[in-house]
Amino acid sequence: MGEMEILEEYVSMPVSPMANYFNSTVLNVFVLGVLESEIPIDDSTVSTLLEHVFLPTSTRFSSIMIMDNKGKKHWKQVDVSVKEHIKIPIFPTSKQLKCYDELFNEYITKISTEQLPQHKPLWEMHIIKYPTTNAKGTFIFKLHHSLGDGYTFMTTLLSCVQRADNPSVPITFPSSQGSVKSTMNSKNMLQKLPETFSLVKSAFEFWKGALNGSLTAKDGHTAIRSGHEDVGFRPINVTNVSLSLDNIKEVKNKLRVSVNDALVGMIFLGIRLYMEAMNHESSKANTTALVLLNTRKVRAYKSIKEMLSTNSEAQWGNRICFMQVPIPKLRDTSSSNPLEFVLEANKIIKRKRYSLAVPLTDVLLDLINKIKGPQAAARYVQKTLNNASLSISHMVGPVEQVSLANHPIKGFYFMTVGLSQSLTVTITSYMGYLRVGFGVEKGFIDEHQLNSCFQTSMEMMLNATRT
Ligand SMILES: *[C@@H]1O[C@H](CO)[C@@H](O)[C@H](O)[C@H]1NC(C)=O
Ligand SMILES: *[C@@H]1O[C@H](CO)[C@@H](O)[C@H](O)[C@H]1NC(C)=O
Ligand SMILES: *[C@@H]1O[C@H](CO)[C@@H](O)[C@H](O)[C@H]1NC(C)=O
Ligand SMILES: *[C@@H]1O[C@H](CO)[C@@H](O)[C@H](O)[C@H]1NC(C)=O
Ligand SMILES: *[C@@H]1O[C@H](CO)[C@@H](O)[C@H](O)[C@H]1NC(C)=O
Ligand SMILES: *[C@@H]1O[C@H](CO)[C@@H](O)[C@H](O)[C@H]1NC(C)=O
Ligand SMILES: *[C@@H]1O[C@H](CO)[C@@H](O)[C@H](O)[C@H]1NC(C)=O
Repeated sequence: MGEMEILEEYVSMPVSPMANYFNSTVLNVFVLGVLESEIPIDDSTVSTLLEHVFLPTSTRFSSIMIMDNKGKKHWKQVDVSVKEHIKIPIFPTSKQLKCYDELFNEYITKISTEQLPQHKPLWEMHIIKYPTTNAKGTFIFKLHHSLGDGYTFMTTLLSCVQRADNPSVPITFPSSQGSVKSTMNSKNMLQKLPETFSLVKSAFEFWKGALNGSLTAKDGHTAIRSGHEDVGFRPINVTNVSLSLDNIKEVKNKLRVSVNDALVGMIFLGIRLYMEAMNHESSKANTTALVLLNTRKVRAYKSIKEMLSTNSEAQWGNRICFMQVPIPKLRDTSSSNPLEFVLEANKIIKRKRYSLAVPLTDVLLDLINKIKGPQAAARYVQKTLNNASLSISHMVGPVEQVSLANHPIKGFYFMTVGLSQSLTVTITSYMGYLRVGFGVEKGFIDEHQLNSCFQTSMEMMLNATRT
């Protein structure tokens, strides 16, 4: 093989800027996709599935990141030994589910702290063959964020699973309501964003803010922000809450807001309740949430086949950016009317809707990347995350029950790890339910308390909706 050929291989797969930031000395971001099995796990067919279905979905899954002699990063395809990527932990035997729950939580903490080895493609599949309160066994995909974003990961996942009721029937791919016009017009594109959480500053506000430093304001230390610079590399605890889409729709219909608005309002209220419970003062502090947005103009999931047949390289990869949203403050009266809180959150959201902040943050990052290099851009991303208090991201999952390697999946959620914040919130929809996941800095945020504040927030909202 001549040098030219190797060079061409590099040239064909440069590492995207976002992927570059996600693997740097200041940021190491990956995603855990957790699939809870209804039956005990028989892992005999898993490696076949990974080899013949998962790997072919993208060359990223069989590539490693390398640096050329000019300091540019590239993906280089390597031979993959799938077995080396499958991890099956051995727990001490126990008769009690509670013990396994504890061991499971510890295991999640462990794998969220461990770096993925750089000499192998940046993914792992963990199979926990022990029952928990939730499942008879659990599959965990650990995927480095430089391999792709939530959209590409979900597309990959959807191509690895089958309908549980009838494997020969194709899965209905979740899609947004209404037709998706594929137009390059950015105004149209932005009008479709609200559904994926368009909480955006207007272009004017954006630059005004950028000039006046309000974009760069830093949240203070509060009950949900430790302020540790290296928080992205510290261990986390993961917890989650499950709620029915029908309940959310009740709130949505009463208030005439979108499902996402109702959810965000509920999350914001839960967070303020937690801050109040932990430290009354900090509940009045300025607190900023970063909402991660997908900037793709096509939002319906495509099957891998479709994706590959169109323009795979353009579709694959990271298409995300984030925007700052101030969380409303609890007024003493708002505890008596939680709906007002949601409406206030909704007002902030509305004000920022249809705006240009998405492309603008992209442009800003691009500029930094071009002028000061990827390391500086990565630091900017890390700072943006670290200056805010939390991130919220959202993923639409399958509508019907699916099975993975013949295991019906009863529950499904994901968690983003390494975002350089003490609190990360994720939302995953699956089979008419929403799982809200909380990744919290271990030893700093009490996840049981947070979980219970979120339950209270949900109850308060439902009570207020029904009266
Ligand atoms: C990815 O990040 C890790 C941790 O900072 C680093 O050791 C590794 O060299 C990076 N990989 C590349 C190709 O830059
Ligand atoms: C965090 O998880 C660990 C297990 O990894 C557990 O021992 C600990 O109790 C959890 N923290 C809190 C505040 O519950
Ligand atoms: C910046 O803030 C100051 C004081 O808050 C205000 O008077 C000024 O108009 C702002 N500048 C811009 C460009 O918005
Ligand atoms: C983070 O906050 C500091 C202090 O307010 C500020 O100087 C810096 O510009 C902010 N950085 C970003 C990326 O927002
Ligand atoms: C996730 O939520 C389910 C259902 O609410 C609950 O039973 C389970 O304990 C939660 N998992 C964790 C890790 O907290
Ligand atoms: C909170 O934000 C408001 C509006 O952006 C600002 O006027 C105020 O000074 C901030 N308070 C603190 C304590 O930073
Ligand atoms: C919701 O209403 C029920 C029944 O009236 C009540 O028992 C419960 O305490 C209320 N929950 C909250 C959080 O207000």
